[in-house]
Amino acid sequence: MVTETERRPTQAPVAGVHRPPPRHVAIIMDGNGRWAKRRGLPRIAGHEAGTENIRRITTRAAERGVQYLTLWAFSTENWRRPRDEVDGILRILAEAIDRETEELHRQGACLRHIGSLEGLSPALAASVHSAIELTRGNDRIVLTLAFNYGGRAELVRAIQNIVRDGVAPEDVNEALVERYLYTSDIPDPDLIVRTSGELRTSNFLIWQAAYAEWVFSSVLWPDFGPDELDDAINTYQLRERRFGALSSDGDTAAAEA
Ligand code: FPP
Repeated sequence: MVTETERRPTQAPVAGVHRPPPRHVAIIMDGNGRWAKRRGLPRIAGHEAGTENIRRITTRAAERGVQYLTLWAFSTENWRRPRDEVDGILRILAEAIDRETEELHRQGACLRHIGSLEGLSPALAASVHSAIELTRGNDRIVLTLAFNYGGRAELVRAIQNIVRDGVAPEDVNEALVERYLYTSDIPDPDLIVRTSGELRTSNFLIWQAAYAEWVFSSVLWPDFGPDELDDAINTYQLRERRFGALSSDGDTAAAEA
């Protein structure tokens, strides 16, 4: 794991910045379908372009000193899409793992998955596991793919496991709940970006996002490049985070939860 003290300096400092770069950036990669439609292409072409974009965004995130990058590729609700689109996304995932894992490994990325691997073929689940195993020791950036992930499903699973473990009610606290989440060994996201102009959080990291800064970009995911990531990170760095406390000048009026 990359520790706080090993953080690399941001490569694109902005005037007036008073925050370090976000340690953990999470992204809702939205707008693939519209990107394809605007070009008269099938939706799956948008998912292919969106997958290509993952490489350049991961590279830029690492350059900016981001230590954890979490990308939402498939929600628990996405199974409701037409079968050929779901099959296409599963095929793209399988091809992307085959094609990209070695290079990600070479670049020092540690791959992780959050969500359930149920519904994936045994071969695809095995290749996800072997990519995770291969890259386990890398510490340049932790790249977490949220696939078949939903925030409510994650909480239901955590509660089931807490009950299954026979935890006494008085022993349930925030730290314990966190240990039962998929994200137990990664920090909460500092910055969450949603692309494509949609202004919803859509069941993404609902526990972990409690104090995240959100940036909503109107750019469709396949077009969301390094410059747009820089803009989002720069926006984050200019915000003041208070975590329920007072602002640095003691302004109570502006101090939100
Ligand atoms: C949202 O766009 C995107 C998805 C539901 C899937 C995202 C999938 C990828 C980036 C490719 C698969 C990922 C991997 C790692 C193989 P949308 O389809 O909802 O777009 P729309 O809102 O314009 O219809």
